[in-house]
Amino acid sequence: MDEGEDPRECRLAARTTMGMDACRLEARTTMGMDVMGRGDDGAAEGGSGGVEVGGDGLAERGERGDGYELVQLANGTWSVHARRERETFHPVVGPAAEAEALYVRGLRLVARMAAKHGEFVLWDVGLGAAGNVLTVLEATQELSGSLRVVSFDRTLEPLRFALGEERRLGYLARAVGWVRVLLDRGRAEFRNGRQAVVWEVREGDFPTLLAGGAAGSLPAPDAIMYDAYSPATNPEMWTLPLFRRLQGRLDPGRPCALTTYSRSTLLRVTWLLAGLFVGVGGATGEKEETTIGANCRELIERPLDRRWLGRVRRSTSAEPLGEARYRQARLSAMHWEQLERHPQFAG
Ligand SMILES: C[S@@+](CC[C@H](N)C(=O)[O-])C[C@H]1O[C@@H](n2cnc3c(N)ncnc32)[C@H](O)[C@@H]1O
Repeated sequence: MDEGEDPRECRLAARTTMGMDACRLEARTTMGMDVMGRGDDGAAEGGSGGVEVGGDGLAERGERGDGYELVQLANGTWSVHARRERETFHPVVGPAAEAEALYVRGLRLVARMAAKHGEFVLWDVGLGAAGNVLTVLEATQELSGSLRVVSFDRTLEPLRFALGEERRLGYLARAVGWVRVLLDRGRAEFRNGRQAVVWEVREGDFPTLLAGGAAGSLPAPDAIMYDAYSPATNPEMWTLPLFRRLQGRLDPGRPCALTTYSRSTLLRVTWLLAGLFVGVGGATGEKEETTIGANCRELIERPLDRRWLGRVRRSTSAEPLGEARYRQARLSAMHWEQLERHPQFAG
């Protein structure tokens, strides 16, 4: 099977806060069929063995009665795990390492912020437990510019949960005060080393927000960290209509790059059809490659080429999601024509 098409969902070996083997996850449909998830796009990850949850881990879940728990990854770091979605926020390498590879290096944030005259605007889609934002703040604190972070999430529960776990979630340790203010007021303004930071959070359903009038008041971004749950679990966050709206919120005069952990054909086709330029993103430790998109070619170092279109032709999972329902299908003739006409491939 081609890379980028493996529908299997394979996640991580992890440990609960009790130190018990917790989970190696496979999201499955009610039909018992494998579905695409965060591990959507590589060859099968060897030896995944369904869900294994230690008995003590389950007892602990019952007692705490909340939607999140901390899991320890095989490398010893800790990550937040969403019980309902059965997904770990930063699987395999952990929050700081994944955010550093995928967003700090992948979006070339240090160089781009250093070169920016005026405020750099960073959208953080899927605030979660703030691992991505706080890793960026750690990496850019020596820069003397100003940074505005606009975080989006439908719930602030993971962040509230993480506040009680700041010792194990090392990335949170220096940021507890900022996070408290953000949670209390929806906005925090502070100095991060030499950097002046404004951090705001927009709580609510992201697709609804982008479709509504309030989207007009959002500052156009220079970069976007896109970190929703996997398409199978969270389809409303991966539809073509959503990414068309997102593309429409970008300022053509403001170069903007976005990246996410997936390298699936479906995601790449979706971003191209939304009007973005799309390329291969760097490795994260969990993935050999990821995906980067942008509103200008110059921000894409390794653009997808016509050879990649051959893969799209062969793929059994290339048709973008038109609505918030996950399914896999070959690319339609209409979308194939649109894709071939995309300026990225038209000579
Ligand atoms: C993988 S977690 C993000 C982890 C986070 N970036 C971090 O660094 O900790 C995905 C997040 O997307 C949010 N999310 C899922 N669907 C959403 C929606 N429709 N609108 C807004 N946020 C959503 C979830 O609530 C969750 O916090």
